[in-house]
Amino acid sequence: MSLRVAILISGGGSNMVTLADSMTGDHPGRPCLVLSNRPEAGGLAKAEARGIPTAVVDHRNYGKDRKAFEGEVQAALEGARADVICLAGFMRVLTAEFVTRWQGRMLNIHPSLLPKYKGLDTHARALAAGDAEGGCSVHLVTPELDDGPVLGQTRVEITADDTPESLAARVLVAEHELYPAVLRQFCMDFRHL
Ligand code: GRF
Repeated sequence: MSLRVAILISGGGSNMVTLADSMTGDHPGRPCLVLSNRPEAGGLAKAEARGIPTAVVDHRNYGKDRKAFEGEVQAALEGARADVICLAGFMRVLTAEFVTRWQGRMLNIHPSLLPKYKGLDTHARALAAGDAEGGCSVHLVTPELDDGPVLGQTRVEITADDTPESLAARVLVAEHELYPAVLRQFCMDFRHL
């Protein structure tokens, strides 16, 4: 039986597309749901075009009530019988309670070489620091933001004329290679637990 993989997005979903498209053939996972906290997320149409069930839980309907928001997300995940969650550009901080429920089964991609530059504006911060390289990391999600065990990283050279945008574009290409590779290995290891 395949592992059922839910992918959570907030935006264009380019990482979601590479993950979804990688789950074919002998891959141990299959996409079971693409969920967005924003109804306007461009990734939703890409998921629909692939025949993947989609759901929207608009965080703006819940104000500051994160638990109610996450209750709806959890219900959608349970409805899809998800085994594994991939956060792919999902721009909401999740509570410790939600994260603990999924600990060991929830992955995230972050556009920096963790533990450097947790949080936002990673590329601008790498450039401001004069770093020779940036990159991306896939990690297990733990309650502390961008802090869980790193499962894979790709380094990307920084050039003298880089802007945050140019660096982000090159790192995104690396993300599209890294995340599917890590997910595949994760699913293979997970199935043998
Ligand atoms: C990626 O750079 C990801 O690392 C970051 O948000 C971006 C999402 O892009 N957290 P996409 O929605 O996958 O195209």
